[in-house]
Amino acid sequence: MSGVETKMWDGRFESGMAQSMIDLSFSLEFDSELIEEDIQGSIGHGKGLVQSGVLTEEEYKTICNGLRSILVDYKKGIDLWQDSDEDIHMAVERVLTERIGQLGKKIHTGRSRNDQVCTDFKLYMRHRATEIIALEKELAKTLLAVAKENMGKIMPGYTHMQQAQPIYFSHYMMSFFFAVTRDIKRLNNFLDLHCELPLGSGAIAGSAFPYERKLVAEELGFKRPSPNSIDAVSHRDMALEFLSDLAIVSNTLSRYAEDFVNWSTSEFGFLTLHDAFSSGSSMMPQKKNPDSMELIRGKSGRMLGNLTSMFTLVKGAPLSYSRDLQEDKEPVFDAVKTTKVILRVMKEALETARYNFDKMESRMLPALLATDLADLLVEGGTPFRDAHHIVGSLVGEAAKQGKEFTELSDETWAAHGVRDIKTIREILNFRYSISRRNIEGGTGPDSVEEQFTKAEELLKNL
Ligand code: ARG
Repeated sequence: MSGVETKMWDGRFESGMAQSMIDLSFSLEFDSELIEEDIQGSIGHGKGLVQSGVLTEEEYKTICNGLRSILVDYKKGIDLWQDSDEDIHMAVERVLTERIGQLGKKIHTGRSRNDQVCTDFKLYMRHRATEIIALEKELAKTLLAVAKENMGKIMPGYTHMQQAQPIYFSHYMMSFFFAVTRDIKRLNNFLDLHCELPLGSGAIAGSAFPYERKLVAEELGFKRPSPNSIDAVSHRDMALEFLSDLAIVSNTLSRYAEDFVNWSTSEFGFLTLHDAFSSGSSMMPQKKNPDSMELIRGKSGRMLGNLTSMFTLVKGAPLSYSRDLQEDKEPVFDAVKTTKVILRVMKEALETARYNFDKMESRMLPALLATDLADLLVEGGTPFRDAHHIVGSLVGEAAKQGKEFTELSDETWAAHGVRDIKTIREILNFRYSISRRNIEGGTGPDSVEEQFTKAEELLKNL
């Protein structure tokens, strides 16, 4: 087999790699996504090598300048790569050596690609987590703003997709706000937990060029060095956790997207998405489809797929490093790209949407007040179970007559056991129902105002 020449580890080898093997194993095509973190990681590692005396300050400076020039050129769109570059780590080292000479080869002292890859990957996830948190905060701010702006508007609240109880529209939007803040907390927790530097771990046993790992950790924004080299190069729970957090983010968005799709139907008519977040039909001229929300909902499937593929990949991988682990990158890259775009679209779509409050209110059925009637009977001394039965039989009777229970006559109400009918009829309405729910976390006006205050506080501290 002729084989293509590969350079970085050819000391041990007599032949190059088969083309088919190259096609299987070379990863530059996707892992160039790690270029910033790879260069940053090398700059951090080099700092340690200066401290341990492997590099002089002068050499370190030359290496750093060389590395930075590679990143600058990459960002300019200059094609730096060759077919023989296996992955981003080897490609950067080759270009560095071409630019600064033999000194470039020193940067890999005391480092294996195993701890290098882990470091780059972890750094990458930490950086992207921070960016995603910022996007989540933007969405949260939009939700709070929409909720505050439209305080006082009422709508039917649903369970089982059936009208259940009257709520403030703002109460619904704040439910989204608080879910988003938990998604943020989860990512903050990820940052807190996966804060240990792998560099210094070598391939498995730890580097034999001891340097102050604390120094390198600080340089790269890690809290401390990892305590065990085998664990550091093997484990991928940081990726599992990150993907899980992002899958939950997309799941949160997906559930609301589902409601917004429903709200956009002519049957509901609660929401009109801006044209910029909708699409038309190639056949039916009247159609305006809520594609933004459908796509957000659809993306949650691939997000779970990314998490599942990571679990499947690592569950049987022996310690420490096996090449299987190279497969850990693409699900994460895909998840990051997907999460960022759905967060942006959700925020922009909600900011520009028209909320049709008249429709929301006009769609409200009197049956939404059934619980309140039962509650009023309880306040008049009827035990709750009896009250529930009385109202249930009234609603059943109304259904038989094709009416709302509020449309039944006073006589019928009385026959079913309702007393104080005049007073009850006077006070029983949607706003009254809402006003009775000022319990902490409820839809009552004071409670929703309280939620706004909590939300402002939360946003400051997240
Ligand atoms: N591209 C590889 C990865 O991402 C580099 C690690 C190779 N390490 C090795 N021991 N062969 O996993």
